[in-house]
Amino acid sequence: MRIDVYSIFPGIFESPLRESLLGKAIESGVIDLRLHDIRDYAEGRHRQVDDAPFGGGPGMVMKPEPIFRAVTETLGYRMDRLDELKSEVEVILLTPSGETFDQEKANQLAGREHLALICGRYEGVDERVREHLCTRALSVGDYVLSGGEFAALIVIDAVARLVPGVVGNEASLADESFSRGLLEYPQYTRPADFNSWKVPEIVLSGNHGEIEKWRCQVAKESTRKTRPELSGIAQRKPDEV
Ligand code: ADE
Repeated sequence: MRIDVYSIFPGIFESPLRESLLGKAIESGVIDLRLHDIRDYAEGRHRQVDDAPFGGGPGMVMKPEPIFRAVTETLGYRMDRLDELKSEVEVILLTPSGETFDQEKANQLAGREHLALICGRYEGVDERVREHLCTRALSVGDYVLSGGEFAALIVIDAVARLVPGVVGNEASLADESFSRGLLEYPQYTRPADFNSWKVPEIVLSGNHGEIEKWRCQVAKESTRKTRPELSGIAQRKPDEV
């Protein structure tokens, strides 16, 4: 999978993308990740990337030209062939006003060969970017970050780990929270008694059928309690989800 990231602060990505599973996937080439500084595509001596909003209001708005230029030049498309670009690349604007990103969207994006992530900053991004360059806009939650960079990192992490070859044990993906509409069951490891806090007897029993039943029951209870809005999904049979 190829992922192109557009930001005026590409340095934010460097350390997180060097570490752990993601770092390995990028180093080995399973994920071809390319960072682009939008400022490199801005005109003039000051390489201005933002300007005051038409109609007034606080803050600055990111200008459209450097973003369009960065994306079209780095991906090799002409400005009059944006439809072609959008049919071949999923171009995503990270913004708090986008659709909420969730596991289902991560699964969809993991099936694409090429993603382009555009990180907004300041008070916003000129709407023509969303309208004419992007195929979708995503928010990572109902809170406002100082920019789309951390949101892009969340999307990259959630999507990349679904790409074959990034996570070693594919079975762990199938069993985890949200993949079945349930939160995960609690996990324990050695020691069985830590500070007099004992691991539930059932998980030490060796009876895999009973352990599976217990895990399922605890997962349902905790989903109902912590995330009642997910419980409807969890209780339905898989073909009704
Ligand atoms: N930029 C600022 N806040 C954001 C959010 N919640 N999701 C995506 N991009 C953002």
